[in-house]
Amino acid sequence: MATIYEVLKKDHDSHREVLNKLDATSGDSPEREKLYATMKRELEAHTAAEEETFYATLMAKPDGQEKARHSVSEHKEAADLLGELDETEFSSPGWLARFRKLKEELEHHMDEEENEVFARARKLIAQPKAEELGSEFLRRKRAEM
Ligand SMILES: [Fe+2]
Ligand SMILES: [Fe+2]
Repeated sequence: MATIYEVLKKDHDSHREVLNKLDATSGDSPEREKLYATMKRELEAHTAAEEETFYATLMAKPDGQEKARHSVSEHKEAADLLGELDETEFSSPGWLARFRKLKEELEHHMDEEENEVFARARKLIAQPKAEELGSEFLRRKRAEM
């Protein structure tokens, strides 16, 4: 069975891909609109399920709290940037600049999760629990979507 780390990494890789594709779109195009809607739906479901399963577990461990809080605050920052982007016309020159800021933050966030947060979590969460969280994450994410 896949662990929470494998499941999250797989999602992150698909987020990286859609971020790169979006970066290459221009103006008020159907591609931009479609990819943005896909990215937003995917990101919101990922983040909610990640907090409800992985971070809820990490938060319950005294040595995991700091990393969990830091990540959750980055989720909030990303949600704020996403909100700003929602308010920006696809055709506006500011769209790409705002999108790139969000992209940079998300890439930093995913790298940090995969490198620092997972390393800490592996020390605190036993293997069977990590597998259970993997399945639970997928269930929650499906429900969110
Ligand atoms: Fe996250
Ligand atoms: Fe994540």
